[in-house]
Amino acid sequence: MNLEELTSRLEGELARARSEIDKISDGDGLDELERSLLGKRSALSDVHQAIKDLAPEDRPAVGKAIGAFKEQVAGLIEARRAALGDGRGEAVDLLDLTLPGRGPGRGHLHLITQVQQELEDVFVGLGYEVAEGPEVETDFYNFEALNMPASHPARSMWDTLYVKLGRPEEVLLRTHTSPVQIRVMESQPPPVYTVMPGRCYRRDTLDARHSPVFHQIEGLVVDRGITFGDLAGTIDAFTRAYFGPGHTARLRPSYFPFTEPSAEFEVTCFACDGVGCSVCSKTGWIELGGCGMVDPNVFAAVGYDSERYTGFAFGFGLERMAMQRYGVEHIKAFFENDVRFLRHF
Ligand code: FA5
Repeated sequence: MNLEELTSRLEGELARARSEIDKISDGDGLDELERSLLGKRSALSDVHQAIKDLAPEDRPAVGKAIGAFKEQVAGLIEARRAALGDGRGEAVDLLDLTLPGRGPGRGHLHLITQVQQELEDVFVGLGYEVAEGPEVETDFYNFEALNMPASHPARSMWDTLYVKLGRPEEVLLRTHTSPVQIRVMESQPPPVYTVMPGRCYRRDTLDARHSPVFHQIEGLVVDRGITFGDLAGTIDAFTRAYFGPGHTARLRPSYFPFTEPSAEFEVTCFACDGVGCSVCSKTGWIELGGCGMVDPNVFAAVGYDSERYTGFAFGFGLERMAMQRYGVEHIKAFFENDVRFLRHF
């Protein structure tokens, strides 16, 4: 169909609609006719189909004509309904004031908040306390006290967002929850058994596993005689408590300036069961966090005696935990706030 044919087709449809509407004598018949004239499977569906074959400059004119057609038909149907007096225009008469109101729908906690609270519960069950720290941090807590003096190359592991406050690059959005370790140790003597959940920020490009805003849960244990075996045992107990038995996890040697030795904590990718896919960058493993034995320089920064005390620390990504446990394939699902997704949890 060309533009002219389409327009004359619409005129014909309008004349036909008018005569059919006049013939109807009850409300149900009108409903049915309205569906056949304006509904998805209406006589207009072939006109819609034909639009894409038109020259692009002709399409707006046909779109407009269809809009006008629909408006006119809806007007004719309304007028007929009023003439038949089927009472639909007088809904006020049907209002039952004794019915209970509809009320606002009840929401629930966001999945990440649920994950955070559940992890807190797991660690509280293991004897830990929960602490929090600020999201806007200073260079001292985010880097310096964590054994990364100015110009330390390891700072580049965290692509940082700075805040225009104080000296240049002095105030920043924390890149991890590790600065809360320092705040906790400054506020109390050992022993320490604390977890520290919270939001973090990095100049990371969005992909399936990375978001510029995400959450971590930090853990810190400082006591006499703490060994790497305690760290491995704690992670094992935690993995079983959170993911259930039968999950494969591993510690892979790694580097963090504030722990020595250091490791990455990884689990088998939920999406491919270890085969390798786009979610895990074809490695078969998903990194959930970093961990290691607290470096003596960190103890020195807070005045702890590293001859008497040793400790371990870890920092896990909450979104990664949730992705792994609930099979969520893209991290953006947590931040888009599509209630159809969030309602599932
Ligand atoms: C750290 O942030 C260290 N502070 C962890 C740590 C704590 C090590 C204590 C030793 C002792 P890393 O940059 O690897 O490490 O991040 C840890 C976890 O945070 C990652 O494994 C991942 O689960 C999560 N994560 C990091 N960046 C992102 C991001 N952009 N989006 C989502 N999750 C992220």
